[in-house]
Amino acid sequence: MPPATIEALLAWFARNARDLPWRRTRDPYHVLVSEVMLQQTQVERVIPKYHAFLDSFPTLERLARSPTAEVIRLWAGLGYNRRAVNLQRTARVIVEEHGGIFPREVTALRRLPGVGPYTAGAIACFAFEQDVAFLDTNIRRVLRRACLGPDEATSGVSDRELLALAAALAPPGRGWAWNQALIEVGALVCTAANPACPRCPLRPACRAYAARAAADAALIAAVPSPAPRRIAERKAEPYAGSRRWYRGRVIDALRALPPGSALTLARLGPRLKPDYAAEDEAWLRGLVADLDRDGLLVLEGEHVRLP
Ligand code: ADE
Repeated sequence: MPPATIEALLAWFARNARDLPWRRTRDPYHVLVSEVMLQQTQVERVIPKYHAFLDSFPTLERLARSPTAEVIRLWAGLGYNRRAVNLQRTARVIVEEHGGIFPREVTALRRLPGVGPYTAGAIACFAFEQDVAFLDTNIRRVLRRACLGPDEATSGVSDRELLALAAALAPPGRGWAWNQALIEVGALVCTAANPACPRCPLRPACRAYAARAAADAALIAAVPSPAPRRIAERKAEPYAGSRRWYRGRVIDALRALPPGSALTLARLGPRLKPDYAAEDEAWLRGLVADLDRDGLLVLEGEHVRLP
C-alpha cells in the first residue's frame, strides 16, 4: 500500500470516524470493557451497555470486589456471559497480582483471563498508544482486500501473513489512529457483503477493486455491443398501446398514402387496430380531432389527410 493511500485512510478517518465513547478515553479499564463488549456485539448495542457497566463498576477495584452475580446481571442483552466472568477475573488479577496497575505490555496483557491476541493488542494500542499490530474481523477483511485481492482468491491467507502486513503498514507514532481507521473503514465502507468501493479511501491502491474492475472490463469487452442507433431512434419510444403511440400510428398511415390522398375514418381504424370495431369509433374520432387541433392532420368530414 503506497504511503499516499495510508495518508488517505488516516484523513478519511479524521473526517468520518464515529464519535464513540471509547475513542474519547485512554483509560485501560474503559478500553478493556469496550473491547470485550465489542468482540461479539454490535456498536449500537454496546454503547448503552458500556455506559451502564461503567456507572455500576466505575473502577477496576469496584469491579474486582463486586459480586459476580451483579456483573452477570449487568451483562444481560450482550450474550456470551463468559466474557463478563472473565472481565471480572481480569480485574481481580490486576488488583491482586499487579497492585491495581494495568499491565502495559502485550505479553503481560495476554496472561490475563479471557484476553487473547486481539484484546491484548487493542489495549496496548487504544489505551497505551503503542504501535502494535493486531487483527479482528474488520482489519483482516480490509487488509486482505486492499493488499492481496478479492475474497474468493484470498481465503487461504494466514493470520501470520496478515499480521506481518499490518505491522509493516502501521505508520510509526500513529498506531492508534491507524488501527481505529482500519476497523472503521471495515465497519462503514469495506463491509463483508456490500463494500462501497466508490467512496473508499483505499480504492486507488486496492487489489480487490483492481481485480474486480479488470474482470468487469473483460466481461463488457466479451459482449458484442449493439450497433449505434441513430439519434431519432434513441428518443424515448411511447409505450405500445398508449395514446401517444396511436397518434404516431395515425400519422404513419397517412404518410404511407400517395401524396395528396386522404383516408376515410372507416379505413383508417383497421390500419391502427386489426380488431377495430364499431365501439372504437368514438375513440378514433377523438384521436384524429386532437391531431387536427395540433396541426398534424386535416379532418374533413369523414376523411383525414396530412396537412
Ligand atoms: N470493534 C472493535 N473495536 C472497536 C473500536 N475501537 N471501535 C469500533 N468498533 C470496534
